[in-house]
Amino acid sequence: MGKTSKDKRDIYYRQAKEEGWRARSAFKLMHINEQFGILNDVRRAVDLCAAPGSWSQVLSRKLFDSCLTDDEKSEVKIIAVDLQAMAPIRGVIQLQGDITKESTAEAIIAHFGNDADQKAQLVVCDGAPDVTGVHEMDEYMQNQLIVSALSIATFVLETGGTFVAKIFKGNANSLLESQMLTFFENFHIYKPPSSRPSSIEAFVVCTGFRLPIGYIPQIINPARDDIRTLARKTGSKVNQRLVPFIACGDLNGDVEDSVSDLEDFTSDDYELAYDDMINDPEFPDEFKDELEDVFLDEIAIRNIQSVRAKCLW
Ligand SMILES: C[S@@+](CC[C@H](N)C(=O)[O-])C[C@H]1O[C@@H](n2cnc3c(N)ncnc32)[C@H](O)[C@@H]1O
Repeated sequence: MGKTSKDKRDIYYRQAKEEGWRARSAFKLMHINEQFGILNDVRRAVDLCAAPGSWSQVLSRKLFDSCLTDDEKSEVKIIAVDLQAMAPIRGVIQLQGDITKESTAEAIIAHFGNDADQKAQLVVCDGAPDVTGVHEMDEYMQNQLIVSALSIATFVLETGGTFVAKIFKGNANSLLESQMLTFFENFHIYKPPSSRPSSIEAFVVCTGFRLPIGYIPQIINPARDDIRTLARKTGSKVNQRLVPFIACGDLNGDVEDSVSDLEDFTSDDYELAYDDMINDPEFPDEFKDELEDVFLDEIAIRNIQSVRAKCLW
């Protein structure tokens, strides 16, 4: 491709330079906002995986700079978190840390109280792991970040709040949709015009946060934790059902290490696991339809080894 057409394609890069955005990514958040109005009336927000800070700049300009008085400004809370340090941004509190770690999650949560009027109205996560080039692995690692971001959101989001996260478009979108609809009324996948067409990234935009009745928020790191033990610790039956479902990754390829201890698990067992959940009187009714779609898809289209790698129940 010639230099001229490449330059034209990257209009957002040049525009970001001209307008003082730290990265062209700023336009992705602005486009998501134009499409879904996610910043309307928002005063409290969390920006996960924020460096170098262009999304935080957008939040700063829209939430903080737009305030007319100091009193209004004092009500704005923007928490930005990344592994890397960032230069300061007006009205933004920065935390440096790994969002998959409990200590970082706790530091974020500590900024928000339990009262509805103290909680965040928006959690965004533009996190990207170091890309390996192995698509299934990259998608899996991305999903781990989303699960961490989602589990932080379950602590800090107010009812009705919004969650936006970067995904790598893959063939497990129906699973992701069901996972997200467990916590949100609405689910969309959106690719902003500023996201390069050649990139497999897109964004989930979930609105209408609702904590499932009986679910106790907890920090979930599927790569580190024994998910069943973790869920059991809460004493909540709902967590014991939902956490393994939420923690499912979307690693489609065969991963020998992951499957070796599940060699006796057959597709019959898988269907039994489904029957077990569907018939369990304590499994929340509102999720049964979604589970059904996911399980039937999985049974039909996936071989049992990829299922073993994905789901640990
Ligand atoms: C695409 S950049 C984010 C760009 C940012 N939204 C902006 O507009 O400037 C992805 C970021 O994710 C961060 N990241 C990746 N894994 C992380 C983790 N586990 N915890 C915190 N940050 C992480 C990286 O350090 C990197 O800065």
